[in-house]
Amino acid sequence: MTEDAVIRVQSPIALPEDDLDRSLRPRRLEDFIGQEALKDQLSVSIAAAASRAEPLDHVLLAGPPGLGKTSLAQIVAAELEVPFVPTAGPALERKGDIAAYLTALEPRAVFFVDEIHRLPRALEETFYPAMEDRCLPITVGQGAGARVVTIDLPPFTLIGATTRTGLLSTPLRDRFGIQHRLEHYGAEELARIVRRSARLLDVSIEDEGAIAIAQRSRGTPRVANRLLKRVRDYAEVRGSGVVSAVVAGAALDLLEVDHEGLDRLDREILRTICEKFSGGPVGLSTLSVSVGEEQDTIEDVYEPYLLQRGLIERTPRGRAATRRAFAHLGLEPPGPPSLL
Ligand SMILES: Nc1ncnc2c1ncn2[C@@H]1O[C@H](COP(=O)(O)OP(=O)(O)O)[C@@H](O)[C@H]1O
Ligand SMILES: [Mg+2]
Repeated sequence: MTEDAVIRVQSPIALPEDDLDRSLRPRRLEDFIGQEALKDQLSVSIAAAASRAEPLDHVLLAGPPGLGKTSLAQIVAAELEVPFVPTAGPALERKGDIAAYLTALEPRAVFFVDEIHRLPRALEETFYPAMEDRCLPITVGQGAGARVVTIDLPPFTLIGATTRTGLLSTPLRDRFGIQHRLEHYGAEELARIVRRSARLLDVSIEDEGAIAIAQRSRGTPRVANRLLKRVRDYAEVRGSGVVSAVVAGAALDLLEVDHEGLDRLDREILRTICEKFSGGPVGLSTLSVSVGEEQDTIEDVYEPYLLQRGLIERTPRGRAATRRAFAHLGLEPPGPPSLL
């Protein structure tokens, strides 16, 4: 095998949902850590809907992957004590797929459409009457004999999750009565999430160990859980099994997660903008080819955190590195542009 053929280890940041996610998912609102304002508002809406025995208004949850959108959707159904029926935008291909789901719902059930921005455009319109008037006009027959029949639907709550609200059409977005954006978590909240996960996974962890993992989890609970698992392995193999700050630090160094929580690909993105493109701006497609990662992954997974940390900026002509990015990589920022 040549060196070129070595497969890159995929970064723990970009992996899709797995068993770990499912086993650690909070089940009730009280187990869901952080996002206090959002929880407050949701719990009022939930209590009001429950007391009126009405379905909750449709909910749109937006935010980068791993911040708790799927968990929250399940929690809403659990709190309302109604069934949770999940699907995803790309899985709905025809109008009939939607009709099959909607007509089979129990009254007040939660219908969860993950990645709702990836719903085919033509199908978005199917949701409009379903969301507004709880009905579904269907064309029966063909040609001159074709007629439209309207099917009544049970009352239900649509919960849509999306990493990019910008890709949703305005008419669809406007039909969600409740809209929330999940933000990256602070280190203190992430430390609580790490301690909770450690308890569930039966990992012995010191408070400082939880903080060390939290600080390097790029504000994302899913990343915190993944790192906890890898640090646990390290603690068992190289240490006494207890996750202390020292053990966590050593394990994360080995995983090439730096003190700002950036992994190898994050740094590669920064290095490419700083070194190859003199700080940018550089277009997303060029960047994607240069670092060998899909555009969507860069935009959904990597960029939000780099933006939030003030390491890159979005400009009309592409992504540009900030002075912080140069400093982080130990590079000299370019001087002011030459006037020649
Ligand atoms: N607020 C939270 N409190 C505790 N754990 C959380 C929280 N948010 C996310 N998690 C953890 O992170 C994992 C990923 O969350 P998930 O809901 O799948 O994110 P998303 O759907 O936004 O990608 C969950 O399995 C859960 O263990
Ligand atoms: Mg999800």
